[in-house]
Amino acid sequence: MERIYLDHAATSLYRPKEVMEAVIEAMETMGNDGRGSHGEALASSRIIYDTRSLLNELFHGEGAEQVAFTANATQALNTALKGILNPGDTLITTVLEHNSVLRPAYELEESGVCLRIIESDSLGRFPYERLEQVMEEETERQKKRWESLGQRGAVVFVGTHASNLTGNLTDIRKIGQICARFQALFLLDASQTAGIFPIDMIGDGIDVVCFTGHKSLMGPQGTGGLCVKKKVRIRPLLSGGSGVMTYEKKHPFRMPTALEAGTLNGHGIAGLRAGLLYLKKQGVDHLRRKEQDLLRQFYQEVCSIRNVTVYGDFSSFDRAPILSLNIGDLDSGEVSDRLSEEYGIDTRPGGHCAPLMHEALGCREQGAVRFSFSHFNTEEQIKKAVIAVRELAEME
Ligand SMILES: Cc1ncc(COP(=O)(O)O)c(C=O)c1O
Repeated sequence: MERIYLDHAATSLYRPKEVMEAVIEAMETMGNDGRGSHGEALASSRIIYDTRSLLNELFHGEGAEQVAFTANATQALNTALKGILNPGDTLITTVLEHNSVLRPAYELEESGVCLRIIESDSLGRFPYERLEQVMEEETERQKKRWESLGQRGAVVFVGTHASNLTGNLTDIRKIGQICARFQALFLLDASQTAGIFPIDMIGDGIDVVCFTGHKSLMGPQGTGGLCVKKKVRIRPLLSGGSGVMTYEKKHPFRMPTALEAGTLNGHGIAGLRAGLLYLKKQGVDHLRRKEQDLLRQFYQEVCSIRNVTVYGDFSSFDRAPILSLNIGDLDSGEVSDRLSEEYGIDTRPGGHCAPLMHEALGCREQGAVRFSFSHFNTEEQIKKAVIAVRELAEME
């Protein structure tokens, strides 16, 4: 039985062969970036710097040195959130978020940050008007704090570019404009969209982009990072060896070293670089259209199958290539297991680390079966997935 992998929102499985080759070559040739001036160390520095440049170009940031590497988006989001916010500040977010935003946000709330989580509608769409209202309320509250306590906290918004459950896309330019109007910082979780959608930090008014390397950027697991505007100061989450300023007691404050401690995942970053070069050659827009065509093909068939509930807003296909569904009252884990065992189709059931989105859509108990597509998938594979869903729905 052919195995069909439709879980690319969790991690990419099909990758360009150049990525694997780059990792092997790096393991054979790379020394430690910033730790010495011999050829192997310099080779490592060159590859890592080049990867920073490619990421800076992809996100239209303020310079290669403003890109710091982490192990994944979770570490990048923790670094940004915990390194920016102080007690008394306001953090605004939405129910669309992944636990890599929500859990650090709850921790910050415990330490005295005012946390506001905005609801979506029943299709999981981003609440722009509500964001404006909450921004207004929080700016006002911070003004009053200034008048009574002489302290005015920052207002920060953090949000995902696309829901990892519904695939609904948010209009980042609109959010950037709202944040700019209220002088709030805008932190973007680009885990589901980096490498699929254009992200323009300068044009869209984004202050920090947090990304992961192992999804649509086509890199290996263990890669990720954050791209930071120069005006944003982030305290390091970790401190330690940096290869520079060895006799200082404090970790260096200059980017990117400020947010990197210890040896980087150079081998993984070399693979990520190959992934970025592949995306550049293929064109992000071209790859996205292929993925959205597969999504459209799948949606148009499954949405009319009796007993199937599809979650999210499909009024436009300008969305991430994700579709989550349920069949009748069947547990999503059972459906996903049967898809895997009887049809060879890999999907992701359960809660997808997005508890509030599930609650908003009313599928907390059942979970949902998530199908997510890559440009490496084929129309034939989508047809097989449709047949599988139809047969399971007919049996129910
Ligand atoms: C929207 C979103 N944010 C953050 C993450 C966390 O990414 P990572 O597991 O690479 O840290 C994910 C992963 O699925 C995600 O979908």
